Amino acid sequence: MPTVKKMISFGLPKKSKVVEGIKHIRANNNSQEKNEEFKTFEIYRYNPDTPDNNPQIDTYEVPLSCGQMVLDGLIYIKNHIDSSLTFRRSCREGICGSCAMNINGKNTLACIQKINEYKTLKVFPLPHMPVIKDLVPDMTQFYSQYYSIDPWLKSNVDPISNKTERLQSIEDREKLNGLYDCILCACCSTSCPSYWWNQGKYIGPAALLQANRWIEDSRDTQKRERLDKLQDHFSLYRCHTIMNCTQTCPKGLNPAKAIANIKKEMIDE
Ligand code: SF4
Ligand code: SF4
Ligand code: FES
Repeated sequence: MPTVKKMISFGLPKKSKVVEGIKHIRANNNSQEKNEEFKTFEIYRYNPDTPDNNPQIDTYEVPLSCGQMVLDGLIYIKNHIDSSLTFRRSCREGICGSCAMNINGKNTLACIQKINEYKTLKVFPLPHMPVIKDLVPDMTQFYSQYYSIDPWLKSNVDPISNKTERLQSIEDREKLNGLYDCILCACCSTSCPSYWWNQGKYIGPAALLQANRWIEDSRDTQKRERLDKLQDHFSLYRCHTIMNCTQTCPKGLNPAKAIANIKKEMIDE
């Protein structure tokens, strides 16, 4: 008799299914609004105060006069339609990294993503992170991974007793370009499948790009120790060069190249 194998079925965790939410459709009886062009925003909503409710997608109609960027639309919604919508933002010009979110399937910064590039805007929090509320992910683990690479200069040269600055040649300074510019928005790490699967152990492309920034700094005297710290099965070597990180970085940086450089330094040192 043939052996009957039991199928194992995996279900979604309770209350994780995203359901249809509230449609905030304008009444269309305002004469000023009749001449306006509108864009539809479909936005992920999750409220920790109502844990018995599923997350939902709320729909909003936003006038294009709100501004050019997705963040302008979100601010319009918060100020004029639904003050409970929650998201992070600060600089509004792609510098602070706080408005990182997933817009139409791509991780990016809402303040530099143009509204007009999409017919309908589907806005979600960064993927594979615990959600605190609506578009706000919990970045605790991401920052502790950043902290794990010791993101500061370590030098046994004391500029005070040596009475000199820590000098750097133009060539050595150029090696830091494309590394120091990282704004820690987490778009890259949260787009990396390897990071999704090994998030507790693989420190991810953002932390590794930052690690490379200090490994490459000619003023830092702890290069060997920094490389040794990454020498295990997970911290560095779970990068499989899938390149999602580089494709998604809103600052045009190349974390995959930085990771490849650390691997090369491991061999050279
Ligand atoms: S490398 Fe790019 S995507 Fe990654 S954290 Fe830095 S700025 Fe953001
Ligand atoms: S190149 Fe490495 S870090 Fe970047 S997405 Fe792929 S596996 Fe992740
Ligand atoms: S608000 Fe600072 S990067 Fe978008």
